Amino acid sequence: MTTAVQKAQTVQQNNETNTPPATQAVPRVCLVTGGTGGIGTEICKRLARAGHVVATTYRNEEKAKAWKAQLAAEGYTLHIYKCDVADFEDSQRAVKAIVADLGPITVLVNSAGITRDTTLRKMSHDQWREVISNNLDSVFNITRPVLDYMLENNFGRIVNISSINGQKGQFGQANYSAAKAGMHGFTKALAQEVAKKGITVNTVSPGYIDTDMIQGVPEPIRLGIMSQIPVGRFGKPEDVAHVVSFLVEEGSGFITGANIATNGGHFMD
Ligand code: CAA
Repeated sequence: MTTAVQKAQTVQQNNETNTPPATQAVPRVCLVTGGTGGIGTEICKRLARAGHVVATTYRNEEKAKAWKAQLAAEGYTLHIYKCDVADFEDSQRAVKAIVADLGPITVLVNSAGITRDTTLRKMSHDQWREVISNNLDSVFNITRPVLDYMLENNFGRIVNISSINGQKGQFGQANYSAAKAGMHGFTKALAQEVAKKGITVNTVSPGYIDTDMIQGVPEPIRLGIMSQIPVGRFGKPEDVAHVVSFLVEEGSGFITGANIATNGGHFMD
């Protein structure tokens, strides 16, 4: 007896229009900033597995080389470019280099980010500026040059990786919460500007994901945070990569200006 799945496969095989099935990605050049980080790495892998050409930026040469070698050993071909995303000129230079090597970027994931946690009364101006420039200025610095290629191609997918703490605020993170909330303001404004050009702009707001960043939080505080997560665990980088890959699909063109919480129920807007 022919099963429903086999029937669907036959329909696909006989598809004379050659339109790709909804789950098959049209190959794109993707740029993932902060791709060598915990969440960024998983996003790079996921997009590469979907058949895309994936580039990422890095600042630390040694870390990036080891990262590339590790992923090559796992069977991934990824392209790395030195770039300080907090610097506008350097970002413009890196985007040009990527496009010259790989072709126009039509998928952008702004995932680069840092923390400098401390209460506001102890926060230095440098700790404020570092977080704002690396987490928020960077979104402008990279998106501004990349957008030109998306407009030329009448297609684009921009995903900004924000945070639960941009939504609810967090003790000790006035700088980070401000930058992450700012990212979603950027998303909503740009989504309106480019909606008619085939370009979507969305925010993904991960909750506490098990990465080095979370491991940097003192253990008693970390365990206290975990007890507040209804799902009962920290998230995995794969949980976030899954949402990103969905948003960049061809079929996600009607989702724009959204903020997708990926936090195990930790905060419900
Ligand atoms: N709410 C209210 N009060 C709190 C509090 C909270 N969440 N946490 C601490 N306090 C109180 C303390 O009880 C203490 O009170 P007393 O002075 O009356 O004893 C006072 O505030 C000072 O607290 P600390 O001694 O802990 O202050 P500190 O300067 O040593 O540490 C901190 C401050 C470094 C910010 C520390 O609280 C901390 O690491 N918090 C966690 C921050 C956090 O969640 N970071 C997330 C990193 S991961 C990430 O950012 C990824 C993502 O997107 C989710």
